[in-house]
Amino acid sequence: MERKKIILDCDPGHDDAVAIMLAAGSEELELLGVTVVAGNQTLENTVRNACNVLSWIGREDIPVYAGCPRPLVREKMVAADIHGSTGLDGPVFPPQTKFPEAEHAVDFLIRTLLAQEGDVTVITTGPMTNLALALRREPRIAEKIERILLMGGSLANGNVSPAAEFNILADPEAAHICFSAGRPVTMMGLDVTRKVLCTPEIVSRMAKLDTPAAQLFVQLMGHFCRTQKEVFGWEGGPLHDPVTVASLLDPGMVTLKGMNVQIDLSHGPSYGRTNCDAFDYLGLPHTAEVAVDIDAARFWDVIERGLRRF
Ligand code: BDR
Ligand code: CA
Repeated sequence: MERKKIILDCDPGHDDAVAIMLAAGSEELELLGVTVVAGNQTLENTVRNACNVLSWIGREDIPVYAGCPRPLVREKMVAADIHGSTGLDGPVFPPQTKFPEAEHAVDFLIRTLLAQEGDVTVITTGPMTNLALALRREPRIAEKIERILLMGGSLANGNVSPAAEFNILADPEAAHICFSAGRPVTMMGLDVTRKVLCTPEIVSRMAKLDTPAAQLFVQLMGHFCRTQKEVFGWEGGPLHDPVTVASLLDPGMVTLKGMNVQIDLSHGPSYGRTNCDAFDYLGLPHTAEVAVDIDAARFWDVIERGLRRF
């Protein structure tokens, strides 16, 4: 079976950690590397977290590359209210045994994409700074990207401002560069990720698997679901980031709609909003496939299969 090549660019982050486990464990996917960006926490924290998650599941062979420590234009923002002071509060990891490669994430992206046949899906589950910088530094990589598949944005309201979702507001200019790179973009926004709430029933279901990956999932969700309830009142944490990887493993799970999407770069109250022209008011070319619905039962089946693997 030919495996789909992916690069996962992330800012772990509890839901990023689950996305890493899913991507690293799938027979259908070839994870070329994990690139890391500042987002949910500082770069130092998110890089350490990515390494620790891969160690936990026995995949220290997958290389991790540290990327950008701050956004392109705006000031850095983190999400400590949700992910804690480490970015991955909750689990207690053994002393760190895996460390990032010497190469910068942007250099890895450029080198790897140029060497491939144009068949790599770049998944981003954090601010899009690393990919944006790579596109600016070496524009020839654009044609080497099969698809940019991101968790970010929202058709409706935001989660860090009335208008904006965290990954986009944390670096709107980077998102603009990626959305306008001329490559296919698939956007998994809050509209669907808020439909996959990790309720206590889901946590109990995964706890029964009793694999190391499932144990980590349960520990991660203990913290994540509590802070999601404190901040948003959800009965379970929306498991945002794994929707990207899961949609590759079971493509029919998500309903997509093509539309013109523009990032608000006004630096006003709607800064970072993904303006999605769902009804084609503007008659502009479609620039992204936007997820408008998800089959939650199928999503949790994919998560369960992923957690069984390690
Ligand atoms: C996104 O923001 C981060 O806090 C999560 O990891 C996810 O990528 C959701 O808005
Ligand atoms: Ca994330």
